[in-house]
Formats: sequence, C-alpha cells, structure tokens
Amino acid sequence: MAGSTEVYRASATAPVNIAVIKYWGKRDAVLNLPTNSSLSVTLSQSSLRAYTTASCSPTYPAEAGDTLTLNSKPQDIQASKRTLACLSDLRALRRNLENANPSLPKLSACPLRIVSENNFPTAAGLASSAAGFAALVRAIANLYELPQSASDLSRIARQGSGSACRSMMGGYVAWRTGVLEDGSDSLAEEVAPASHWPEMRALILVVSDVKKDVPSTTGMQATVATSALFPTRAETVVPARMTAIETAIINRDFPAFAEITMRDSNNFHATNLDTWPPTFYLNDVSRAAIRLVHDINRAAGETICAYTFDAGPNAVIYYLEKESERVIGTFRSILKAETQGWDGVFGDAVKHIKSGIALENLDSRAVGGLREGINTVILTGVGEGPLKVDKHLVSEAGEILDRAI
Ligand code: DP6
Repeated sequence: MAGSTEVYRASATAPVNIAVIKYWGKRDAVLNLPTNSSLSVTLSQSSLRAYTTASCSPTYPAEAGDTLTLNSKPQDIQASKRTLACLSDLRALRRNLENANPSLPKLSACPLRIVSENNFPTAAGLASSAAGFAALVRAIANLYELPQSASDLSRIARQGSGSACRSMMGGYVAWRTGVLEDGSDSLAEEVAPASHWPEMRALILVVSDVKKDVPSTTGMQATVATSALFPTRAETVVPARMTAIETAIINRDFPAFAEITMRDSNNFHATNLDTWPPTFYLNDVSRAAIRLVHDINRAAGETICAYTFDAGPNAVIYYLEKESERVIGTFRSILKAETQGWDGVFGDAVKHIKSGIALENLDSRAVGGLREGINTVILTGVGEGPLKVDKHLVSEAGEILDRAI
C-alpha cells in the first residue's frame, strides 16, 4: 500500500431502539456491563436513523489522528473514551485479519475519517447515542470487512453506549447481562426478527420540556448506589420479566407484552424516585399519557396499547396496527390539529383516521394535559437492524460532504 492514494469508504445506517425491559445500572462502568438483562424493539429507520460513513486512507494526515464529524460539527474524539474504546477494538480485529493475510491493505495503520448525520427532529430530545454508536461500529466493520456477526459486534457497540448494543440488530432484541468480568458474554441477541411480529407500532409523544434531564449514565449510577428498591429490581423483578416477555413475543401475545412493558417502565421509574436524592424523569404530561393509556384500555375492555418511558418525559406508546383506529384515532382527537409529525410511511397509512374512543370515556384533566403538553409526535413501527448503504458522506478524494452522494 506504500504510496497508495486510495480513499477507502463504507457507510451504514442504524436504528433507534426503545426498551420494554429497561437497562438501568452498571456493574462495570468502563465496559458498560449491566446489572440486569434488557429487551427492546428496534424502530424503523424510515423515521429515525443515524447515517455514518467510515473512511480511511494513507493520505489522511497522521498527526490529525482519527477524526469524527457529527451533524457537520467536528468532535473531540480524544475526549470520548467510549468512542476510543470502539475504534481500538475494531482496529484490533482488522489487524488480526491483516496479520493472517499479508496481501490485505493495511487499513488498520491508516487514520480514520468518520462522518455521521442523524435525522432526528432536533426538538425531539430523543437519545441518539444508541443509533449513533451502532452506525459507527457497523460502518467501520464494513470498511474493515470484518467477518464478525452482529452479536459479536454488539460487544463493541456496548462500550460506546450500553443501549447501542441492541441497535446492532432488528426486531425484538435482548441484551444478556452476562457473568464474565471481561464482558465477552454481555451481548445482544435477536429474540425474534421484525418479520415475526411486523404489526408492532410505536407512537412517540414528544413532550415539550425545556428542563435538561439527568444524563442516564449519572442517573443509573446514583440509583445503584442509593436505591433500596434497586437490588430487588435487578435480582428478582427483571429476570422473571425477561422470560415472560420473550414468551409473549414468541406467542405474539400483545396483552402480556403490554402489561410487562408498562409494569417495567413503572418499576424503573420507581427506582428513580427511590434514588437519594430522587431523580424525576416523568412530568405531568407523562403522567397524563399514563392515565390515558389505562383509560383507553379500560374503555376498550382489553389491553390495546402500552406506554414506556426512558430517562426523560417522552411517552412511547406501543400498539398493534389492527388497533390503529382505537389508539391513533383517540390520540389524534386529543392532540391539537397543528401537532407536527403525522407524516411519513406510518402516518400516511392512518391519515384517514380522525377519531377513536369517545373522549367522555377518558379523564378530562389528562386529556387537557396531554393536549397542552404535546406539539410533536413520531409514528413508527418495528424495523430492521443496521443497513449497508452505497452513498457516502466522504467524497472519493476524502472530503467531508454535507449530504451523502
Ligand atoms: C433508560 O445506554 O444511554 O434508555 O450505557 O451510560 O450510555 P450508557 O446509558 P444508555 O442508557 C439507556 C437507559 C434507558 C433504558 C434502556 O434503553 O434500556
């Protein structure tokens, strides 16, 4: 490769995932090893995705080292131990390939130029780190032509952000806590592909809140250190729920899936209230959403929707496509007409639905609270894992581009 001026490039997109059994607590904060297993639904990339191009070239200046540009802004890669950990593991895998086959170009010796864009609405306040690290790991693994499986690579993405390991695959994904100290058995596994239960939909109610939430890393460390409820959650509550929700997914049993999802969200937020001093992620608008989901299910006479909340006030409402009328119709009749985000492939399919369960069946204060507190929604569904894409955010000559070509 000496004297080569070639620029090597590979690009990938990766999805967001929303946990139904939450990861909250680390037993090792450097390797991001969790205190309990977790399970999530991978969301369609038609609505939300991270897009990353990884490139390397002997022509890139060695003194600049590896570089990362995120949403057109250069990042200080040296300040992110998590990014450095991912790059170092991926490079070591490439080096092994090169050592075994000396005819391969020595990409592991070249600086990396990584460019990433995500399409999340800026006001959405959605954590982008899971999709971001999954896209970074997938793009570099493609660049280096690594033979490792998605599950193997999830160990690397996990070091970027715990929840990122679950964005390495589509459908219904478990992150097994593992027992080994080196973290080699703490990885993501597919429970079922998206095609097993493709009718799953997710309505994200974006809560307009100016308050900055306690970052999840800080919040979970405080919970582990101070909550008296936490050990029961990690040791007893979650292991039983993991088994039960996997069975519900295999059997496509929505009422069971929904009840476990809601109970786990509530249990996770209970450990936050039990943290000392307490951490609050839910606000009045979140509580209105909780009340309304229970009211909708009561009025329907069966469980047709379920809420879950991460480390912030946004509600994610899971439901099955066949219940679009009763679920989407009800939320559409509650929310303001000018609410943003009802577009896209999933929104187009329910455009004609304007009303669902009669509002007189619902708590009027909760109806008012939700109406005032939500200006944006994202309507999406279960989707596929990271995808290889042929357009790049770095030109053939190595220049950083604003859009993929
Ligand atoms: C509430 O994966 O963001 O969303 O590993 O410190 O980067 P770090 O934390 P992160 O935590 C996600 C917490 C959660 C639950 C979940 O996604 O399982």
